[in-house]
Parts: sequence; structure tokens; C-alpha cells
Amino acid sequence: MKSTAKAAAHPNIAFIKYWGNKDHDLRIPANGSLSMNLEGLETQTTVSFDTSLDQDQLILNGEPGGEEALDRVSSLLDRVRELAEIETRAQVLSENNFPTGTGIASSASAFAALTLSAVTALGLCLTEKELSQLARTGSGSASRSIPGGFVEWQAGTDHDSSFAKTIAPPEHWALVDFIVLVSQEHKKTGSSQGHRIADTSPFQEVRVADTERRLDICRKAVLEKDFQTFAGIVELDSNMMHSVMMTSDPPLYYWQSGTLEIMAAVQSWRSEGLPVCFTIDAGPNLHLICPAQASEAVKRKLSALVNVKSVLTCTPGGPARLLEPEITGV
Ligand code: PMV
Repeated sequence: MKSTAKAAAHPNIAFIKYWGNKDHDLRIPANGSLSMNLEGLETQTTVSFDTSLDQDQLILNGEPGGEEALDRVSSLLDRVRELAEIETRAQVLSENNFPTGTGIASSASAFAALTLSAVTALGLCLTEKELSQLARTGSGSASRSIPGGFVEWQAGTDHDSSFAKTIAPPEHWALVDFIVLVSQEHKKTGSSQGHRIADTSPFQEVRVADTERRLDICRKAVLEKDFQTFAGIVELDSNMMHSVMMTSDPPLYYWQSGTLEIMAAVQSWRSEGLPVCFTIDAGPNLHLICPAQASEAVKRKLSALVNVKSVLTCTPGGPARLLEPEITGV
């Protein structure tokens, strides 16, 4: 017997970042975070629970997924199986329309789409909050790819209190995110390992203690569409996370020379009056965020930089959604 469902989810870009955990197994984060889903990029995942399988299978972009990825997927499926009180194994087919492992958070969209498709395939009816909690256990940032638009993940202290919710819908603020690729290499140290060593940096305690202040400033700037304030806090938050990364044991250096060139360019463009700011995840590539009215000017400026390998363009995206079977109201 087979039961199948297919779901899609967007990755997200964090304006206030998640780095470090209070509980690594449940991925209860050290601090709250705030992000925007990215329309234009998505993962589509089909899950088929099949009584003829003796183990879970994972196919990522048409190739068998590695052992580590399969273990992570199986752990999430185990939680879903426990909820449904069954033991049936599943085949998971997952496709991204963007390059994986380059600091574009593919694990966020992957685990959000996996959660929604697995739960639906087994006929479970979960609320958005429950889906966000479950997705979080696969990849922390996946909790933010379940709700739509501009999303805040409250850190919480346990499984029940740690989940994400929408603070404003995608149409609230017409921002553009240019993802500027300076390298397509697979990142050396993934975020799961990075979260584990965050506490070895003497700066992590200070960063975490200051998070509520940054979240308040950022949330207000998003709700009031105040780009100047937004730009300042987004860059500060990214720089604070990278300060922790660079001072961890072992240190994590994600920036490359191209990254620094573009960071400096963005700061000089903003000082000349162009509304644009940068933020950088666990990789060398940058996200340049600007209001839609400034996007043509930013694109022109970017086309003159030699270190830019390619640029992906995103706008605020909606929630994780079912593709098959079509069920609304999730
Ligand atoms: O969800 P993870 O374990 O891939 O961690 C995401 C970490 C950052 O992308 C660097 C920051 C964030 O909040 O998305």
C-alpha cells in the first residue's frame, strides 16, 4: 500500500539570524530570529509511504542523497511516524530550483516541504504552529519556511514554545532580495556543526543577550517599512553572527574576497543615497535587500562588479503549500 503527498516551500533569508542552540537535538535556538520567505526559489518534495520498502530512500535533485542527509530525513520521518503510530518506510523525492549548499538556506525549504508532505501523506491534520515545530526539528530555519511572508521565530524554551509565525504577509512590503553568488562551491562547515560550536566564541553570550533589542528594532522597521533603520540593524546582525563564527573554536571564515568587495560596495552605494543593504548566511554569497523601486539601480551597479558570478532575484514569498493532493487551509 502506498500513500503519497507533494508539497512546496520557499527558503527564507533571516534579517535577525539564528545561530547556536539551547538544545541541539530539538533545535531550540539560543535566540529568536526574523526572516522573509523567498518567492522565486523553492523546494518541491514528494513523500510516498510504501509498505513494500524496508528502509527510507532519498533522491535529491535526481541523485541518491548521501547517508548524512538520509539520516536527517529519516529522523524527521520518525517523528511523523510516531504521531501517526505507524512504522512504514518512505521514499522522498526532493527537487530544488536553486543551487544547494551555497549559503542559500536549502535546508529550510527542504525540511518545510518534507514536513508538510509527510504529514499530509499520512492523513495527519496539523496546525501551522505544529508544522513549524516539527519542521524545526529537521532544520531550525525550516520552522520559518512554514508560515508565509515576514516571519518571526520565537526562541522558546522547549518543543511546544519554539515555533514561527507571520508578522506581515508577503504583499506588506515590496522588497527585492538579490542573491549574489561569488562562489558555487559546497560550503565546508554546515550550519548544524556551526550551531554546536557557537558557544565557544566569547562573543556569543553578548550577541544572544542583545537579540531582543535587535528583534524589536527590526520588527518595527519591517512593520513601518522604514528602510534606513532596517538596513542598519540587518547589517549589524549579520556582522555580529559572523563575529561569533570567526571567533569560534575552530573558527569559521565564510567570507571570501568577493564577499568583502561587495559588502564595501553596498555600504558606499547606501552612503550615496541608494537604499540597499547586505546580509550573509553560512557561506560566501550575499543577499542584497532593497525596496522594489531601487531594484533596477542595484542591478545596474551589480553588473559592473567583477566578482559577481551570478545573481538570483527573489521577492517576499508565501507559506509552505500542498501541491498534491490539493488541500487548502493549511
Ligand atoms: O537552519 P540551519 O541549521 O541551516 O541554520 C541557519 C543558520 C543561518 O542561515 C546562518 C541563519 C538563519 O537564521 O537562517
